[in-house]
Amino acid sequence: MKPLLRALHGEAVWPPPIWLMRQAGRYLPEYRAVRAKTTDFITLCTTPGLAAEVTLQPIRRFGFDAAILFSDILMLPWALGQGLEYREGEGPALPPLRDAAALAALDLRRVAAAIVPICETVRRVRAGLVAEGFADRALIGFAGAPFTVACYMVEGGGSHDFAATRAMAYGDPGLFARLISLLTEATVEYLAAQIEAGAEAIMLFDSWAGILSPRLFHAHVIQPAAAIVAALRRRFPVVPVIGFPRLAGLMLGPYATGTGVAAVSLDTSMDPVLVARMVPPDIALQGNLDPMALVAGGVAMQHDVSRILDALHGRPFVFNLGHGIVPQTPPEHVAVLVEQVRAA
Ligand code: CP3
Repeated sequence: MKPLLRALHGEAVWPPPIWLMRQAGRYLPEYRAVRAKTTDFITLCTTPGLAAEVTLQPIRRFGFDAAILFSDILMLPWALGQGLEYREGEGPALPPLRDAAALAALDLRRVAAAIVPICETVRRVRAGLVAEGFADRALIGFAGAPFTVACYMVEGGGSHDFAATRAMAYGDPGLFARLISLLTEATVEYLAAQIEAGAEAIMLFDSWAGILSPRLFHAHVIQPAAAIVAALRRRFPVVPVIGFPRLAGLMLGPYATGTGVAAVSLDTSMDPVLVARMVPPDIALQGNLDPMALVAGGVAMQHDVSRILDALHGRPFVFNLGHGIVPQTPPEHVAVLVEQVRAA
């Protein structure tokens, strides 16, 4: 079995497999060259030749143990029919979803056709990995978790606090629950299609999970993730799911045991020593170098990498960052990081 999949199935593979969130992207000159030739980001995500090419770029350069499908978590609202635009330097923009009429305008029946090019990217990457001599690297498919996707849909884009989303969760709980439930169903369909096309593991990004109170965390983070994991497990019993409940803090324990995920991805704030005591040993851990340590490089990075490796030696573990790689990251620092992890 491929090293990443062995670790996700509970084996303490050492040295640990490594890949990085947002490993394809603007810090790579070869990504910027492809991006410069495309009119917009959605076209890049829905053109299989280009999306497969940028998915493979970081594997060629660094030899990571996993490729992650190049797409975006907001391609699901796009597939459901909510307008989506990525504005240069501003991030994503959608028409804010604030009432029952806006929810009713979303259409689950559009999803299957809309995601065809994304699944074609998955097929091409699987074939490309073998053709280019990376047959032991795994391909990860992904989706945003319902709560985080709802945050962008309700707010209409990024935010520091997603105040309108949290206000809806309290003020119109029925409407918010219907949105989460629609997204849960759509996410199962989307991820099942990625697995059928060749994704070997799945990552569920809940980047804003940590802004919820414990009660709402159970309702909108743990429950939907548990439903998605259960539905996928019925159809694809051997495909592991990695959950990333960012900033979950003390709720990480309930998330790890309550969702059925094979692995939890730790954000930068998590102390791996404490987490190792909080999460049952059969659940794999992933993470959690600070992306800014990777920007800095040098002894500061080396020190933090050693600390993570020491804390998680002997457990099923996948080396990664605590959040996505940032555009100002020097690619040479990534090469140094991979070398240090491989020498563990
Ligand atoms: O390499 C990979 O990890 C795969 C591709 C990937 C992207 N986005 C590509 C992307 C993945 C897995 C994501 C996930 C994603 N997208 C998340 C969850 C993880 C996280 O970072 O918290 C979120 C919240 C988004 C939403 C999103 N997409 C925002 C807020 C932005 C704008 C900010 C930014 O970084 O530019 C995007 C755009 C985006 N998604 C880019 C890339 C490479 C940059 C667009 C460009 O190249 O012009």
